[in-house]
Amino acid sequence: MTVTTLSPRTHADLRDDAPDPVGPLLPVVGADLHAPVVHGGSVPYAGLDVAATAPALTAVADRISTVLSHYGSAHRGSGYASRVTTDALEHARATIGRCLGARPDDDVVLTRNTTDAITLLSSALPAGARVVVLDIEHHANLLPWRRHEVRTVPARATLAATIDAVEEALASSPTTLLAVTGASNVTGEVLPIAELAGIAHRHGARISIDAAQLAPHRRIDIAELGIDYLAVSGHKLYAPFGAGALIGRHDWLEAAPAYLPGGGAVREVTTDSVSWASSPQRHEGGTPNVLGAVALATALQVLHDLPAGAREDHESALLHRLDAGLRSIPGVTPLLVWPDAPDRVGVASFVVEGYDAAYVSCVLSAEHGIGVRDGRFCAHPLLARLSPDASAVRASIGVGTTSEHVDRLIDAVRGLTTSGSRWTYESTAGGWTPVPETRDLDPLGLGTTAGSPSPCETPV
Ligand code: ALA
Repeated sequence: MTVTTLSPRTHADLRDDAPDPVGPLLPVVGADLHAPVVHGGSVPYAGLDVAATAPALTAVADRISTVLSHYGSAHRGSGYASRVTTDALEHARATIGRCLGARPDDDVVLTRNTTDAITLLSSALPAGARVVVLDIEHHANLLPWRRHEVRTVPARATLAATIDAVEEALASSPTTLLAVTGASNVTGEVLPIAELAGIAHRHGARISIDAAQLAPHRRIDIAELGIDYLAVSGHKLYAPFGAGALIGRHDWLEAAPAYLPGGGAVREVTTDSVSWASSPQRHEGGTPNVLGAVALATALQVLHDLPAGAREDHESALLHRLDAGLRSIPGVTPLLVWPDAPDRVGVASFVVEGYDAAYVSCVLSAEHGIGVRDGRFCAHPLLARLSPDASAVRASIGVGTTSEHVDRLIDAVRGLTTSGSRWTYESTAGGWTPVPETRDLDPLGLGTTAGSPSPCETPV
């Protein structure tokens, strides 16, 4: 395949006041991936969609490879491989809890992802539970609660007023659980967790934090912040091996029905009775995802071992560059919920006047080898509030992101708004597709042919 040389930077980089280049903070698998572009050849892939799914850390892939060579049946055998694998699983469980600051008596339940973890917690709430949520949540932290009585607090014009509204909601009616995100998956704005935990506890409620977006960007200490339950996803934490976790207080989980009834979740079964194991095992029926747990634990440990502030410094350099670049393009409007959020992780959503978000992301991919997400980001209520047509383009930054990725995105969006696209595109049921589609989109040999419809993104 021909590799297209990226055009030399002609604007920002050549000015005397051009910001310094920023490299990756940690090595990730796929950092040398090239993406085909419609006008021929390929360019280094700029993966700016880590808020949806982050690449594996190289350290995670190396660890998985080591564990695979000893892989056997966890908790189900006495052979050597089985013993080693059982230890790997329980060591991973302990590491996940430790790296997230769990209390010694908290449970660490291994799940598939955040949605699964929150659905498990929802199934473990006491009878008659009342839940309070904000309307900025993504679906994983909205839909699982709907089996209970839910009150939704609309975000107010400022974060401070929103926190007051949460307090009013909890003061006005008994609440079992306040369920909030640690950071918005649409805007990256970070919520004041310790303050919200204090409010919840003052009004006799517990607090659960959806940390799907926060955990990849910030160190979290469950005990110090006063969090009762925390949910994380491996695929957003550089550990895309199908595991997540719910960490938190044992009592509700111990009293709850088995979330996933099956082998490993029981002490004793007869034809008409069952004695369930204690939590966390009672919620983890079936053969566990050992590799997923090891991957998640390894990633958390690597992130935990970074010098204090390293993630924040790397990310804020890139986020400021991204924000400044986007704001400098006429017709581009960044989306934010509040003017006063004191912290924001590396997520930036924006709309481009006159352009469908799916079209923008299709052009970014097809002509520039840039991966972003467009649509509603599984947060329909928030997009309905923030964007005129309830959709946007989202770029997100992780430990493998560089200033070259960010600069290329800004140049590409600027080029689109000033000169239009350089190819033709056709609207399809699933988004937009280049016409003709010249790229080989089947490097894995799955039988997809160049030229067949390849919508760049679905509109949700
Ligand atoms: N929360 C996932 C995302 O933001 C779905 O992409």
